[in-house]
Amino acid sequence: MDKIIIEGGRKLKGEVEVSGSKNACLPLMVAALLGKGRSRITGAPDLMDVRTMGQVIRTLGAEAELADGVFSLDSRGFSRCEAPYDLVRTMRASIYVMGPLLARLGRARVSLPGGCAIGARPINLHLAGFEALGAKVVLKHGYVEATAKKLKGARIVLDKPSVGATCNLMMAAALAQGTSYLHNAAQEPEITDLANFLNRMGGRVQGAGTDCIEIKGVSSLTGCEYAVIPDRIEAATFLCAAAITGGSIRVRRARLDHLGFVAEKLALHGMQLSEEDGALRVVPARGPKPVNICTMPYPGFPTDLQAQWMALMAVTPGTSVITETIWENRFLHVSELTRLGADISIQGNSAVVKGVRRLSGAPVMASDLRASAALVLAALAARGRTEISRIYHLDRGYEALEKKLARLGARVKRVGAA
Ligand code: EPZ
Repeated sequence: MDKIIIEGGRKLKGEVEVSGSKNACLPLMVAALLGKGRSRITGAPDLMDVRTMGQVIRTLGAEAELADGVFSLDSRGFSRCEAPYDLVRTMRASIYVMGPLLARLGRARVSLPGGCAIGARPINLHLAGFEALGAKVVLKHGYVEATAKKLKGARIVLDKPSVGATCNLMMAAALAQGTSYLHNAAQEPEITDLANFLNRMGGRVQGAGTDCIEIKGVSSLTGCEYAVIPDRIEAATFLCAAAITGGSIRVRRARLDHLGFVAEKLALHGMQLSEEDGALRVVPARGPKPVNICTMPYPGFPTDLQAQWMALMAVTPGTSVITETIWENRFLHVSELTRLGADISIQGNSAVVKGVRRLSGAPVMASDLRASAALVLAALAARGRTEISRIYHLDRGYEALEKKLARLGARVKRVGAA
C-alpha cells in the first residue's frame, strides 16, 4: 500500500489543471449502455472508481475501455443483467447500472451495496422510483431483483434530492413509454451533464439543474461522443490548498458557475477569486477569517468538500462551526487532524474548530476519499513531515494529486510501503 509523504510549509504557486469529474463520469459511462452502438466519453479521469465501473460494464457483456483519457463503450454485447457482490461492494455507484438494465433488458439483478465509512447509504429512493415506473422489485439473498416488461412514464416525488436516485431514474425514464417528471430532483452540475449526455444520444430531457426534471421517453437512443465536465470538488480542493498555504495559483478548467456557495465562503474567508481565460485565479487572504459552513445539496456547500474546509479552518484564527447534514458519519478525519495538532471538538453533527497557529507533521491514516484530501491539505500547512497511509482512498477520486501539487511547488512524494 502506497503512502504520501509531505514536508509542509511551502506556499503553492503556479498553475494546475483540473481533471474530468469522477461523479459526472460514472453515470455517463453507465448511460452509454442505453445507446445502441458505440459511445466515447472524453476527459474521463484515470481513477480507481472509473476503472471499477468499466469492469462492472464488461460484466454486463458490453465492451468498455479506458485509455488516454477516453472511455469507449460498445453496447452491442450488453445482454447480462447481473452486477455481482464482489464488484458492487467495492464501489456503491455500481447501483447506477439498474436504470439502463431495466430500460434495455427489462431485468436487473444487482447486489445491495450496503453502507460505507461515511454512512448507511440507503437506496430506497432508487427502488421506489423504479416501482413508480412500473418495475417489480424484490430483495433476495442480498440482491435487488427488478423486472419490467416496459417501463412507463410516471410522476415521481423524491423525499430527498438524491444525486444517485435522480441519475438512475433519469436513465430508466429516458427509454420508458410516455413522460416522467422527477420532483425534488438533485440539481448538481453532474445531473445536468447526464441530461446533456442523454439528449446527445437522442433523449428528450428538460429541466436538469432545477428541482423538476421532465423526461419524455423515446423508443431508442444511439451512442455518441461527449466531453465530461471538469471536477468541481477537485477544483475546490486546489482552491483550499492555495488558501491553506497562503499561496496564489491558477486553476485551469475550474468553473465558477459550478462552485455554488463555495465561492461565497472563500470570499468570506478573505480569498480573492477571479475568472481568467478558462481558469480561476485565487489570491490568498490578508487576514483570513473563520467561516461556518453547513453541508447542503447543490448549490449549497458540498459535503464532498466538508473535510477539506475543516482542514482550512483548523489553521484559520478564530472559531468556526462545520455542520454535516448529508452523511451521518463524515467526521472520520477529525481524529487524524487532531493528531496534526488541530483543535476540533464534535457536538452532534457539528464540529467546532478553533484555529491554531501551526499544525505539526505526524503519521496519519486516511479513512475515506475526502478525508484523505483533508489530510493532504493539513500536511501542506503543517511544520515538518506528515506521512499519510491508506492512500488508496485518495486514488478513487483524485487523479495524480501528488504530482499536481508537486508542480505547484509542494514537497510531496508517493512511496510504496515496505
Ligand atoms: C453522491 O452520492 C456522490 N457520489 C457522493 O460523493 C456525494 O457525497 C453525494 O452524492 C452527495 O452529494 C457519486 O456521485 C458517485 P445521495 P449518492 O443519494 O448519490 C439519502 C464522493 O466523495 N438517500 O445524493 O450516493 C442519503 O442517505 C462521494 O465523491 C436516501 O435516504 O448520494 C443521503 O443522506 C461520496 N435514500 C442523501 O440522501 C436513497 O435512496 C444524499 O445521498 C438515496 C439517498
